[in-house]
This record gives sequence, C-alpha cells and structure tokens, in this order.
Amino acid sequence: MKIAVLVSGSGSNLQALINANLSAEIVGVISNKSNAYALQRAQQHHIPTCVISHTDYTSRACFDEAVHQQLLNWRVDLVILAGFMRILTPMFVKQWEGKMLNIHPSLLPAYKGVNTHQRVLNTGDQLHGCTVHFVTAELDAGTSLVQGVVPVSYQDSVQTLQNKVHALEHFIYPYAIELICTHQIIYQTPNQVLYQNQALRAPIQFFKDKKSAS
Ligand code: GRF
Repeated sequence: MKIAVLVSGSGSNLQALINANLSAEIVGVISNKSNAYALQRAQQHHIPTCVISHTDYTSRACFDEAVHQQLLNWRVDLVILAGFMRILTPMFVKQWEGKMLNIHPSLLPAYKGVNTHQRVLNTGDQLHGCTVHFVTAELDAGTSLVQGVVPVSYQDSVQTLQNKVHALEHFIYPYAIELICTHQIIYQTPNQVLYQNQALRAPIQFFKDKKSAS
C-alpha cells in the first residue's frame, strides 16, 4: 500500500510513521507551508516532498485539485493527515472517501475543533486523549478507529496535556494505519467499518500503554 502524508508543521506524527516501519510505503509528503519542519524530516529519510502553498491558489477547490493531482501522480492508496491545517472541500473528501485518515487531539466525539486541551481543563474532565478517524466532509466526524486515553490530573496544564496526548498519538497513528494496511480494518460506508470481519461499534482504545477491553 502506498501512503502520502499531508502536513503543515512540525511533523512529529510523520516521524512516528517513519520510525514505525509500516508495511505501507510512504511515497510522498505534501505540505501547504514551505517552512514546515516536517519537510526536513521527510528529506532526511529520502521521502519525496512537495510544497503546495494555498496562497498560490484563488480558491480552496483549486488548491485541493492540485493536492489531488499530486496524490494521483504518486498512485496513493491512503492519505494521512498529520497536522495538516487546511479544511478540505467536500469534493476532495469524497474523492478520498474511505482512504483518508486524520488524528485529532481529543476523545471524539468530544471536543471537535481547536483548543482541545484548554477545553478539557476548563470542563474538568478526568480523561483526555486522541482519536484516529476516517475523514468525512463534516469536521472531525468520521468513524473513529483507535483512541489513546490519558488521565487528567489537577496538576496538568495545556502543555503537559499536549505532551501526554502527543506521545500517545505517536503510538496510535501507526497502529491504526497498520490495521488498515493489513486489512484488519476495512471501510465499507461512512457508517460501516469492519474490524476483523465484525462491525466496529466503538473505537479500539488504549489506556496509556495498555490496550483496554473495548
Ligand atoms: C497533533 O496534535 C494532531 O493531533 C493534530 O495536529 C498535531 C500535529 O502535530 N491533528 P505534529 O506536526 O505531528 O507534531
């Protein structure tokens, strides 16, 4: 399976995918920002990179079409959003339906959108985490596949929560991708995903380092 990773920033999740020695091949990295550190990470591992700057396009649709064409050029099977800070058009999402994943720093469906760590602290939740999900046109709403769960302590700040969640992201993202590459997770429709030939009714959860019962 050939995967492409879309980034905008530091690329620590990209690094985790590179380090994980996936059974998939990372055939390219696309960034909408020319100064994204993720590009250097890819280049250090001789992975082709491509900068497609949204500022060069007059509309979201034109930008997305350029990204789409690059993905087709690379003959990509699976698109991985890893800190890609652009909202994609419904047309683009439809073209990659069932073939595009995102990682989000919350236990979806809780805390869609931004500032998740601060919102968790404001609410006083005892658990927080991250979710790998299929991408649909609605923001952070596609079927959740894998979650990492961390306890929140009264000493936590946005920074400590971010560090804890990031560490879990680097574990669950390669794990989820490997499940797809090995056909243990199969996308059927927006509401129907199979896990080991059974309907996936809830995301596979990891609590810190341990897999939970769900
Ligand atoms: C992560 O927090 C991820 O949850 C969010 O974007 C961030 C990317 O971080 N979607 P990095 O660039 O992979 O370090």
